[in-house]
Amino acid sequence: MNNLLTVEKVRVCYGELEAVRGVSLSLAAGETLGLVGESGCGKSSLGRAILALERIASGKIEFNGTVVSSLKGAALKQFRRQAQMVFQDPFGSLNPRLSVGAAIEEVLFVHGIGGSRAARRERAAALFEDVGLEPDWLSRYPHEFSGGQRQRIGIARALSLEPKLLVADEPVSALDVSVQADIIQLLKRIQRDRGLAYLFVGHDLAVVREMSNRIAVMYKGEIVETGTTDQVCDNPQHAYTQKLLSAVPDIDKAFAQ
Ligand SMILES: Nc1ncnc2c1ncn2[C@@H]1O[C@H](COP(=O)(O)OP(=O)(O)OP(=O)(O)O)[C@@H](O)[C@H]1O
Ligand SMILES: [Mg+2]
Repeated sequence: MNNLLTVEKVRVCYGELEAVRGVSLSLAAGETLGLVGESGCGKSSLGRAILALERIASGKIEFNGTVVSSLKGAALKQFRRQAQMVFQDPFGSLNPRLSVGAAIEEVLFVHGIGGSRAARRERAAALFEDVGLEPDWLSRYPHEFSGGQRQRIGIARALSLEPKLLVADEPVSALDVSVQADIIQLLKRIQRDRGLAYLFVGHDLAVVREMSNRIAVMYKGEIVETGTTDQVCDNPQHAYTQKLLSAVPDIDKAFAQ
């Protein structure tokens, strides 16, 4: 199989603390790998390492056949276009003093996409439409939007550079349950339209199951189980996975509408 992303025995350390302890995983183009585990088990550290936002202590991360830690300058910038993050808290990652349209246009400008200012504005409007927001709202500021709308803005911004990989770090965890399902449907539709690969991080197995082709279960810095979504959810091998599953009493009904 031709992998878009290969992670081999990666470790992330903060001083004495080893947050990621030799994790290996792979992701094919257009696929979703769910990464599930309790708070503090190292999910975000791993996600940031994959996006070259965190230094790795050892191991190797390859994206499209290139070793990520070796990237510098223009090659690193090119990688940043192709691999983007959707955050749990889109408000925290949006500049409160910039209209949301200006924020997206800035990303395009920095990466030399879109040509003229008018063309960038047009592109931002198209992105807004694609994520279910009114292009008229581009002139508004982050505080004028609801949580779900802000997450749509975060998704639009992540898509603006036409990435091949999105690391979605608990993108629905901060949202009301009613809004969670909308955002999950949006992410799925965008994936179908664009053939994106997702690393979908979560602590709620019901949500991760809904999104993922395969699931990796992380516990105390290590991946303790990995398999297809059905394998992991119907026939969990590791005691920790069984515990996660038992926390979702009726997993099939959790997303039935
Ligand atoms: N920048 C940092 N400096 C020092 N320690 C950190 C840093 N970031 C994370 N840690 C620690 O590393 C461990 C893993 O944290 P991480 O945020 O990766 O976990 P997580 O699985 O994403 O948790 P959550 O579900 O709460 O988001 C935790 O013990 C955390 O306190
Ligand atoms: Mg986290």
